Amino acid sequence: MSELYSKRDTLSLRTRHIGPSCKVFFADDPIKIVRAQRQYMFDEKGGRYLDCINNVSHVGHCHPEVLKAALKQMELLNTNSRFLHDNIVEYAKRLSATLPEKLSVCYFTNSGSEANDLALRLARQFSGHQDVITLDHAYHGHLTSLIEISPYKFQEGKDIKKEFVHVAPAPDTYRGKYREDHADPASAYADDVKKIIEEAHKDGRKIAAFITESMQSCGGQIIPPAGYFQKVAKYVREAGGVFIADEVQVGFGRVGKHFWSFQMHGEDFVPDIVTMGKPMGNGHPVACVVTTREIAEAFCSSGMEYFNTYGGNPVSSAVGLAVLDVIESEDLRGNATRVGDYLIELLNKQKAKHALIGDVRGCGLFIGIDLVKDHQKRTPATAEAQHIIYRMKEKRVLLSADGPHRNVLKIKPPMCFTEEDAVFMVEQLDGILTVLEEANGPQTGSVISENTVCRTKMSKEAHSELLSDSTKDPKENPSRKRNGLCADKNALPNKRLKT
Ligand SMILES: Cc1ncc(COP(=O)(O)O)c(C=O)c1O
Repeated sequence: MSELYSKRDTLSLRTRHIGPSCKVFFADDPIKIVRAQRQYMFDEKGGRYLDCINNVSHVGHCHPEVLKAALKQMELLNTNSRFLHDNIVEYAKRLSATLPEKLSVCYFTNSGSEANDLALRLARQFSGHQDVITLDHAYHGHLTSLIEISPYKFQEGKDIKKEFVHVAPAPDTYRGKYREDHADPASAYADDVKKIIEEAHKDGRKIAAFITESMQSCGGQIIPPAGYFQKVAKYVREAGGVFIADEVQVGFGRVGKHFWSFQMHGEDFVPDIVTMGKPMGNGHPVACVVTTREIAEAFCSSGMEYFNTYGGNPVSSAVGLAVLDVIESEDLRGNATRVGDYLIELLNKQKAKHALIGDVRGCGLFIGIDLVKDHQKRTPATAEAQHIIYRMKEKRVLLSADGPHRNVLKIKPPMCFTEEDAVFMVEQLDGILTVLEEANGPQTGSVISENTVCRTKMSKEAHSELLSDSTKDPKENPSRKRNGLCADKNALPNKRLKT
């Protein structure tokens, strides 16, 4: 039995019993999903949706090998990590083997938030310092300690930035402070971090950690320029702090060529702490912090035991091991590279055809389409992005829009996504963009204007954004170079990634 209630009743029970701040996708007409398989989700009527956004079901929804591993272990034993058990040690050994040698000590948790919270504790205990440098628009989790260091959240709510939090500019070379026409954006962004450290020192404050996603996801699918992490790590370590790489969204081979996204920066860059979550358990709650022996010893020297009831339990570890096996046996990293490259190629053709697409960036199956109203000013096309994701939903393709202006279409599907899926997705997008352009005539400016008759129902939210085009982006930057991390066929021969 996959349904207890009609869709209407489910919605009304949800409204009555689930906290109102827990939002659903497509609030105007939410989807009720009753089952899923591989890269597809099915609604209560059997309607099939292509899932382009679910990076938790990493090896594919309901993968049989993962299910088998979970069931087999659940039939036998599940308990906490205070008993000796082979699964937790085997899993820690296998995870360590994917990382540079010095990252060899694991702490298992149940969510990315728990992992990042623990990473902060490790950093503070190791350094004896309190302050944290985070990137603008970053999101690192829902716990109090993480909302404090997540501008994505605290800038939206009424929360005020805490005095121990320092926000560095996001190293976004498309619409950030230093762009692709800058001679050395990596150094310029890193120098901003250095300045923050110097200012903090002047105020008598000390840096415990710099935390960043290896590629910013909620922040708008941002790929930092090559060399940025090395320079930041140097400045932060000189100040006695540590570098935390949050791989909760982008780890486990999503970028294809590397198992971890931070590895795109080269072998001379190794973070001090890596946090991981979402894809680890393919939907089962498993997460982890991996660090150096030195940091782990310092944490232990406080004398306080670390205990986490479910962290690293035999079932979670069995699930995690099965996910690692599937990534390998099905060559999902190879698939991410092949399909990701192909999809980027298709999207670049769309970019040449549709003025609304300002930038296509990505690596493997982590891709962003930055929608703009104006190529010169790069004014974010927020309402258009909302309109498109609703229209894509009608075409049975699940996409979302994110970034500070919510104008970046995020693509991060299960890793079994195929070239046929890529073609289908792009065809639907092409159709929607074509209709928008027909409604507006040949355009150089906004694709949706106040007078545009939308051929589909738009969300109230999208409509109000449509009418308040307040985002101004004065910088012009027609020449696009590349950031040097993620090679593709069209790359210009220097330091930039994007098209
Ligand atoms: C980059 C990043 N870090 C941490 C988290 C928190 O993970 P969780 O929701 O599993 O607590 C998220 C969740 O979206 C995330 O995107």
